[in-house]
Amino acid sequence: MHNLNNKTALITGAGQSVGLGVAQQLANAGAHVMVNDIVVERAQAVARALCADGKSATALAFDVTDADQVKHALQDTAVDILVNNVGNAGSMPMAQTRFIDLSLETITQVINANLYGVIHCTQAVLPGMCERGFGRVICIGSEAGRQGLSIGVSPYGAAKAAIANLIRHVALEVAANNVTCNTVSLGLMNNVPAEFANAVLSSIPLGRLGTPDDAASMCLLLASDSGSWITGQEFVVNGGSSVRG
Ligand SMILES: NC(=O)c1ccc[n+]([C@@H]2O[C@H](COP(=O)([O-])OP(=O)(O)OC[C@H]3O[C@@H](n4cnc5c(N)ncnc54)[C@H](O)[C@@H]3O)[C@@H](O)[C@H]2O)c1
Repeated sequence: MHNLNNKTALITGAGQSVGLGVAQQLANAGAHVMVNDIVVERAQAVARALCADGKSATALAFDVTDADQVKHALQDTAVDILVNNVGNAGSMPMAQTRFIDLSLETITQVINANLYGVIHCTQAVLPGMCERGFGRVICIGSEAGRQGLSIGVSPYGAAKAAIANLIRHVALEVAANNVTCNTVSLGLMNNVPAEFANAVLSSIPLGRLGTPDDAASMCLLLASDSGSWITGQEFVVNGGSSVRG
């Protein structure tokens, strides 16, 4: 049983889906969970539900792509565990588009959500973690960051590859401070549109899409004492498959 008593965990984009599942598992393990989302009502609803269930949680709404907002929101907060979960196209719907048809504006928006969001949040909490001599940084990556796919997600894949490698470098820089940094890269999850899911379901050896709990279990392991000798790694949680376009 993992124990996160007396730890404060910030989960970005925890208003729904994977982030919500991570918030629930870390809260169940005893952490005080700070529920971030760009949609204030979502963050508040999740924090309220966790508290009603006897867990410890607060809502903390900000936009991870805005460095000033992130700095301001986190300046007085000691975060022990950061889960960089915001991704996809950020607050916009994910429009799958061939690279040659992409506008620079869309590319920038996707890079902002998937790479700069991670940079802003990690930079905001890392100095405090190093000073206190404890920290866990977990990034949510994707299969799209590990291979080429012909499904119109090239900037997303580029940003996910970037965070996995960024965090390998950061892991080595802060290892002496007892701060670990890892990436959990997910395969296709159960919140994608049905027509897309049906097309790739047969390529998943374990025969089903991923759930928020599948992702959260790996995050919990890495956040807990059981993960204390694991850093600079990328863990793939994908039902045994690589999704092919
Ligand atoms: N869904 C999948 O199939 C899948 C597959 C592989 C990896 N992933 C990764 O898993 C993570 C979670 O994905 P999901 O499908 O659960 O996401 P989701 O889109 O269902 O939820 C993301 C949450 O983040 C919030 N958010 C968006 N932009 C934000 C911002 N700028 N600042 C703060 N909050 C913001 C949204 O309001 C939303 O509540 C992402 O990093 C995604 O890339 C997902």
